Amino acid sequence: RLPRQVTVVEVGPRDGLQNEAQPVPTELKVAFIERLADAGFPVIEVTSFVSPKAVPQLADAEEVMRRIARRPGTRYLALVPNERGLERALAAGCDAIALFTAASEAFSQANVRASIEETFERFRPVAERAQAAGLWIRGYVSTAFHCPYSGPVDPQQVLSVADRLFSLGCHEVALADTIGRATPRDVDRLLALATRAFNPGRLALHFHDTAGLALANVMVGLDHGITVFDAAAGGLGGCPFAPGAPGNLATERLLALLAGLEIETGVDREAVVAAVTELRQSVPGIGARAC
Ligand code: HMG
Ligand code: MG
Repeated sequence: RLPRQVTVVEVGPRDGLQNEAQPVPTELKVAFIERLADAGFPVIEVTSFVSPKAVPQLADAEEVMRRIARRPGTRYLALVPNERGLERALAAGCDAIALFTAASEAFSQANVRASIEETFERFRPVAERAQAAGLWIRGYVSTAFHCPYSGPVDPQQVLSVADRLFSLGCHEVALADTIGRATPRDVDRLLALATRAFNPGRLALHFHDTAGLALANVMVGLDHGITVFDAAAGGLGGCPFAPGAPGNLATERLLALLAGLEIETGVDREAVVAAVTELRQSVPGIGARAC
């Protein structure tokens, strides 16, 4: 009943490093990303073309994209909030982007200073141009379970936002537990609806691990036929606009679970641990905000 193969999307360089108190030097980011690619990830989310005033930690997005040696077989994703971001991403040679919005109005305002409706107005020209340029497009639905400002989120609202992202042309939509508050029961409830409304093969799950339930939530996702899971090496991560959002699910823990279930990922767990250990040695205190 469980899938035989799963895609692990490594989001540490983006979701992890966007939340560090001090920006990580570009050369260390590049080395981290290259180490992760060598570990065998099919997808790595490397940076964001957002406002450098909003997220100074990722202000070197162009430089990172330019300097990484791209491994064939790895897709390098970058977040894009608007047309300006798309222009930057195209100029930097990106071939895969992620559009991000939310299921909660309050979080959308805090994160991108726009209503959910306005995010879709921003996305329309971005998606058209991205499709014309042949880019692969992911969509994110943040606060798919719980909003740090307005509390529990109605699954119907999540489905509606996901549907709009698919209609825009997103190849995959990630349902995100932004502050790591979802329980297995919440995940089961949403996926029972989402996997009926959409092709489960085009859904991804993005868990933060605040309450230590991310792996239990992954199990529920696997039971529902989900085959794409996000994680960050070392459990780095968090969104600066979501108070109480600490680390993402740690990739090495996800890989241990999947290996134990004999589910193939193509990723070398030891190499992931080595990559994050090297980063920690170079940047003492990294991930401290995630604890
Ligand atoms: P704004 O201030 O409302 O919009 O920002 P604006 O268009 O008026 O722009 C303000 C300034 O930013 C202007 O500069 C623009 O030129 C500049 P100024 O005139 O003041 O000098 N600007 C840009 N610069 C570079 N690249 C751009 C860009 N756009 C505008 N693309 C905006 C709106 C969305 C841009 C801003 O709020 C922003 O960048 N927010 C970042 C949000 C973010 O990155 N959040 C974290 C990622 S999402 C996340 O972590 C959740 C996820 O992990 C899933 C989950 O766990 O839930 C994905
Ligand atoms: Mg996140």
